[in-house]
Amino acid sequence: MNERLKIAVNTGGGDAPGLNAVIYAVTMASYRRGWEVYGIQTGYAGLLDTEQIIRLTPEKVTGIVSMGGTILGTTNKGDPFRLPFKNALGEIEIRDVSDKIVSNFKRLGLDVLIAIGGDGSLRIAHRFAQMGMPVVGVPKTIDNDLASTIITFGFDTAVSTATEAIDKLHSTASAHERVMVVEVMGRNAGWIALNSGTSGSADVILIPEIPFRIKNVCDKIMNNELRGKRYGIVVAAEGARAEGGEVIHKGKTEDGRQDVLLGGIGEWVAREIQQQTGKDTRSLVLGHLQRGGSPTTFDRLLALRFGAAAVRFIAEGRRNVMVASAPPDMATVPLEVAVEKMKSVPLDSDSILTARDMGISFGDE
Ligand code: F6P
Repeated sequence: MNERLKIAVNTGGGDAPGLNAVIYAVTMASYRRGWEVYGIQTGYAGLLDTEQIIRLTPEKVTGIVSMGGTILGTTNKGDPFRLPFKNALGEIEIRDVSDKIVSNFKRLGLDVLIAIGGDGSLRIAHRFAQMGMPVVGVPKTIDNDLASTIITFGFDTAVSTATEAIDKLHSTASAHERVMVVEVMGRNAGWIALNSGTSGSADVILIPEIPFRIKNVCDKIMNNELRGKRYGIVVAAEGARAEGGEVIHKGKTEDGRQDVLLGGIGEWVAREIQQQTGKDTRSLVLGHLQRGGSPTTFDRLLALRFGAAAVRFIAEGRRNVMVASAPPDMATVPLEVAVEKMKSVPLDSDSILTARDMGISFGDE
């Protein structure tokens, strides 16, 4: 089959290092097959205002593999099934513009959309697939919380950034004999906290999968003190919570975003440690630093492999699937399966056992 396909590609949700590498791979692999590639800007916005669609050519994507961000732009408040608009009175109104997007897609003669996104964007892609717009998803998120793929690109870079930050905190914490509490991203999964905390030799790691008791956290700090280690490093995932307590968040924003903005657990834990142990304690939030910058070699390669595999699977006639990393290969899973469940850290995983063997506390015992 030597069909000349017209491929569209977009990036949705929070950005993650490696997005540009996927765009590069999709463009290069498509051009090798004589296909055309069109970049849809700002999530699905480019399919509403089609002026925003850009033709992607090898020349256009030269040099982007090592760049963070996305040349197409992205948004995590652009769900076309519930898009917020300001009406004449300045009030926010929610509209469903999905029909318009599907009709524009068909009018432009596009054959398949490669949707690069996390669970939210892939859920949207799945709904479009059900409306007759052929889609192939590529899994992206620094949180690594998609169940149907072994790993998502962006995660390795985020973990490396967090580990480097933790390494730096050791010297200042030790100089002042302080406890430093660092809050990392990850939403409802503890992957970033677990991997960076273990690699960075934290004393305590708090993750959403293991509700903690603040007394256990303080005991760990004070036991270290008795043994002569007079400073401490606590890594708290933004979704971690105390036993019987609630997740701490900043509430829902008014801009049409579906989920709450997590954040604040690091500050809470630091305050409790200071009060209960008397140790000088500071907290910091790594925040969007974890999403920025150049992708690591691992993420670049993974992103290139995802993009190239998406094109190969399209050539084979596969539609309405997500590309999944299934080492040593790439595989596909139906989109409805891909968005079914999230991937939490298994409590009996080797990484948890390793951390415990290193003497790291999860605040549960
Ligand atoms: O899903 C990626 C992520 O960075 C989460 O780790 C975090 O909770 C959220 O996005 C932050 O979203 P925003 O970019 O809207 O602040």
